[in-house]
Amino acid sequence: MKILHIISSPRGEASFSIKLGTAIVEKLKASNPDSHLTVHDLTRSPFPHLEEVHLNSFFTPAESRTAEQAEAIQHSNNAIAELKAAEVIVIGVPMYNFGIHSTLKAWIDHIARAGQTFKYTENGPVGLVEGKKVYLAISTGGVYSQGEMKSYDFTEPYLKTVLGFLGMTDVSVFRVEGINVPSIQAGALDKAVSSIVL
Ligand SMILES: Cc1cc2nc3c(=O)[nH]c(=O)nc-3n(C[C@H](O)[C@H](O)[C@H](O)COP(=O)(O)O)c2cc1C
Repeated sequence: MKILHIISSPRGEASFSIKLGTAIVEKLKASNPDSHLTVHDLTRSPFPHLEEVHLNSFFTPAESRTAEQAEAIQHSNNAIAELKAAEVIVIGVPMYNFGIHSTLKAWIDHIARAGQTFKYTENGPVGLVEGKKVYLAISTGGVYSQGEMKSYDFTEPYLKTVLGFLGMTDVSVFRVEGINVPSIQAGALDKAVSSIVL
């Protein structure tokens, strides 16, 4: 089993989304001893924001790209190749201002490419990244799985939408939540790890 663990928290060993994502990876490895793991920390070498040169390279046929465009598209090509090579993708998702961290958004902007990861058909867009299993390890200061804050969570709905658009519809979500809520923070990680079902 080829596992890709995407990290988007800059907090290293203190990060709850990394701890939860790692717990998912460890469970996967325990039940698939021949697994191969690739860890990609997006905060260590962030993908650039999409600039004019990236957009032009996306929409120019490979044989017609300038040297600058050919270089600029390597970020996207590498990210898509890494994604397609994986069978299981574990994505660590720290909540920042009700959404995802900007390094994760930049990665998504590089993997979502017409003709590569989705295509337009007469019946609408079709995702081309099929057959993957995705696990989201979401970490939040508050509680969003239920209660009055649930509708303020733009991490899970956004990621399910964009991953589904690319063909990745088999998505399981695990949450370490309430880590800024004094009454529940102490047991939040243990509770999240025990909730993992593969
Ligand atoms: C800049 C920043 C913005 C945050 N925004 C939110 C937020 O909107 N809602 C929330 O519940 N927690 C918020 N938090 C708390 C984080 O989601 C929480 O610390 C989480 O554990 C971060 O993930 P990590 O531990 O993997 O780094 C924020 C934290 C930071 C540093």
